Amino acid sequence: MSDLTQEIQRRRTFAIISHPDAGKTTLTEKLLLYGGAIQTAGSVKGKATSRHAVSDWMDLEKQRGISITSSVLQFEYEGYCINILDTPGHQDFSEDTYRTLMAADSAVMVLDAAKGIEPQTRKLFKVCAMRSIPIFTFINKMDREARDPYELMEELEKEFGIGTYPINWPIGCGQDFKGVYDRGDRKILSFEDSHRGQSRIRAIEIPLEESEAVEKAIGSRLKATLMDDIELIDGAGYDFDLDQVHAGKLSPVFFGSALNNFGVEEFLEHFLKMTLSPLPRMAGEEIVDPFDTAFSAFVFKIQANMNKAHRDRIAFMRICSGKFTREKEYYHVQGEKELRLAQPQQLMASDRAVIDEAYAGDIIGVFDPGIFSIGDTICEKGKNIRFAGIPTFAPEHFASVERIDTMKRKQFEKGIEQIAQEGAIQIFHEPHTGFEEVIVGVVGVLQFEVLEYRLRTEYGVEVRRRDLPFEAIRWVENEDLDFHSLNLTSDTRRVQDFKGNDLLLFTSPWTINWALDKNPTLRLREFSEN
Ligand code: G4P
Repeated sequence: MSDLTQEIQRRRTFAIISHPDAGKTTLTEKLLLYGGAIQTAGSVKGKATSRHAVSDWMDLEKQRGISITSSVLQFEYEGYCINILDTPGHQDFSEDTYRTLMAADSAVMVLDAAKGIEPQTRKLFKVCAMRSIPIFTFINKMDREARDPYELMEELEKEFGIGTYPINWPIGCGQDFKGVYDRGDRKILSFEDSHRGQSRIRAIEIPLEESEAVEKAIGSRLKATLMDDIELIDGAGYDFDLDQVHAGKLSPVFFGSALNNFGVEEFLEHFLKMTLSPLPRMAGEEIVDPFDTAFSAFVFKIQANMNKAHRDRIAFMRICSGKFTREKEYYHVQGEKELRLAQPQQLMASDRAVIDEAYAGDIIGVFDPGIFSIGDTICEKGKNIRFAGIPTFAPEHFASVERIDTMKRKQFEKGIEQIAQEGAIQIFHEPHTGFEEVIVGVVGVLQFEVLEYRLRTEYGVEVRRRDLPFEAIRWVENEDLDFHSLNLTSDTRRVQDFKGNDLLLFTSPWTINWALDKNPTLRLREFSEN
């Protein structure tokens, strides 16, 4: 096996998704501890101002103590090279969160056992499902009062239309949490009270057939419940089928407690065995094989302000095939230019390190003097492949933005266009009005503040923002439809994006249905591929 093949084969690139507070940061941190990438818990994120998240780049982010940017962390574990794509966890998440999922080969969905599926999990799941990527579920906080595990699994199956397969099964919850039953090895992993708050304690393992020891560990009542549960899940549940997992149709489910480090290492080990090395990607009609020696990558995120002193931008790219070498010249397909990628770097837990090489599956950040756009392809010279673009997702909050100082038209247009090009915001306008009144759409409301802050600090423009009462936007798919003759409620607004696509702004799901009802040929989309 060549070195290249070996390197690519050992890579696993996945995103962690969850609703805020479900425990994504805690789980990520525990995974990094296992990889030896960090030494102490709490180094990934501190809500208190004294500790900063590794992903805290922007001042604003530090002030608010939350993560606006999503980061990528790489670590090694038992021969695997693991890339974790973190997704902003606050409710003020952005479109970047969605786009990050375009760069992952699988996703780990963290649920709070007391809450189950929550709004942000739902949105993120939709994007994973769009790409049919494998989804692994970690049901967290079993050391607290939790919902019935059957009910949680049923919720996943019903809402998401996927099968579930519990890899382990919880024994009690809250004060009564005694551990999990490992179905593959038919053994109990017992959770002791001494586990609470500790890190890196391996669970005590007791084979199921050692009946007395099991009873001693979990008590006769929980043992009886467990025996019933085992019979039920073995008899009535889905069969395990790895192909179905890989197709995103069956989600392996794990129960545990990230805070107490219970079930985390077992999760990691199962997960690594079940996930695949980097997957092939479509580029037009062509399938790009990750093991192909020729380098190729696409930009999925552009981050401004990584270093305030230089006002630089970093373009994050996911390597899709071959090996990246620092000094080599590559081809930027959309820019039709040959270039060397400057200051290529990777995030290793708490550091950014300049790297000399990277492989398919890896994410690298390169200095961007303003030439890259989201979705761009960079590849070996002489090749001309173009990866399928990254869709634009429908924003959910809207505001009209005007400059206060009428003299600053140029700066305003430049600023707003550049920020939109990075993908932090989307901009719309009434047909034929250009920049007179710009309607800004964002996925999370924090982006409005980011926009105002950046226009002020980077472009010297003060703006007036008026929040608009719209809740949804949809791209009109029909090309031959007379946009102005549509029968719509009086509060529905017709707008265009700056590429000239027609869109409709709605105040509620009800008005969307009204539009579809009254205009039977109308076709609306929640995302745009153009
Ligand atoms: P997030 O990134 O998904 O937003 O969640 P995060 O890991 O920050 O966890 C949210 C809160 O839940 C934190 O408490 C964290 O300690 C707690 N938590 C995470 N996993 C578990 C678990 O398995 N059991 C229990 N009981 N709690 C868990 P916090 O008080 O909000 O913050 P902190 O001061 O502890 O950081």
